[in-house]
Amino acid sequence: MDNLNNLYEKNQFNIKNKVDNLLEVKDLKKYFKTREKFNLKRYFKYGKKSLLDSKAVDGVSFNIKEGQILGLVGESGCGKSTTGKSILRLIEPTFGSVRFNGKTLFDVENKIYMDKNELTYLRKDIQFIFQNPYASLNPRMKIERIVSEGIKKHNIVSKFEIKDKCQEILSLCGLSKADLSKFPNEFSGGQRQRIVIARALAVNPKFVVCDEPTAALDVSIQSQILNLMLDLKDKFQLTYLFISHNLEVVRYVCDSICVMYLGKIVEKSKTQNLYSNPLHPYSRALISCIPKNHPSDKEEKIILKGSVPSSSNIPCGCRFNTRCPYKDKYCEIVEPELKEILPGHFVACHKA
Ligand SMILES: Nc1ncnc2c1ncn2[C@@H]1O[C@H](COP(=O)(O)OP(=O)(O)O)[C@@H](O)[C@H]1O
Ligand code: SF4
Ligand SMILES: [Mg+2]
Repeated sequence: MDNLNNLYEKNQFNIKNKVDNLLEVKDLKKYFKTREKFNLKRYFKYGKKSLLDSKAVDGVSFNIKEGQILGLVGESGCGKSTTGKSILRLIEPTFGSVRFNGKTLFDVENKIYMDKNELTYLRKDIQFIFQNPYASLNPRMKIERIVSEGIKKHNIVSKFEIKDKCQEILSLCGLSKADLSKFPNEFSGGQRQRIVIARALAVNPKFVVCDEPTAALDVSIQSQILNLMLDLKDKFQLTYLFISHNLEVVRYVCDSICVMYLGKIVEKSKTQNLYSNPLHPYSRALISCIPKNHPSDKEEKIILKGSVPSSSNIPCGCRFNTRCPYKDKYCEIVEPELKEILPGHFVACHKA
């Protein structure tokens, strides 16, 4: 406990010495070992070593300033959740470094890993809201226990004030005092997500990774939850990494956006610039498919051919070349780097 108290004091020092970026992610990679297809030839040659690397995240870099919301978008399977989990070391990263509030969480190349105590403390500052509110609440625990667990673990308030703190955070999330004594199965999907948000915010975090927080909810409920998250962000001065496959949702919520394709960021810019002037063919196709607000808005949909290649068999050159209508021979050989094409607008395409 003493250790934790020391860390709280150290953290007060950090708050006074604010850093420019709250989160800095540099060249993050996460490779999984997978036996995607049984390849007899490979099996005879390498035996058990025939497992392939599935490059779920393959060199992702971005920064988030305090109070900002950064969106991470892309089709299912492009590595968004793996990025979020690797940042918090919920899964061990393969390469890269992450700094949070000026402290190194890990730097694989230099073999620096934050020690366990400090990481436990830091997990108070960084919370995770998962996609599925049905799976992320223990069905055998009452709401009071679910919300108070983190409060107790991190000594947020004295033990006499825990119930009040739970009530306060539940009411901020649109639930009532009576809900404290209920079980998760007594709530709807939207209400459960409110409980998940209350649990995350009960420990006064600074940064929240929201992984598709509204994807499992009805459309009518989605906007309520998004508005709640935006209100709470202002109230608690939070910073969000907002992961979603839904470009409409991201546009509504985020200050800037990273578009991911097969484990890499292919375009990064302020939200408004991305939607008014998407420069990567993949972003253009995604944005063209957003339902239009007005029938007179007749911009043509760009339908991408084929499906996303497997992350254990990434195409040579530009990884989007198997689906890109503008590709040429050069694209099949040379991988484009993410370059700043307009101020603050980065794109990985030879033809941008
Ligand atoms: N634990 C795991 N073991 C092996 N492969 C995984 C694991 N988790 C994710 N993957 C693979 O990594 C890729 C990215 O997954 P994920 O990050 O969940 O994508 P997204 O969140 O964008 O839908 C997928 O191809 C997925 O199959
Ligand atoms: S580099 Fe070539 S294949 Fe890749 S997105 Fe640009 S035009 Fe398409
Ligand atoms: Mg996901």
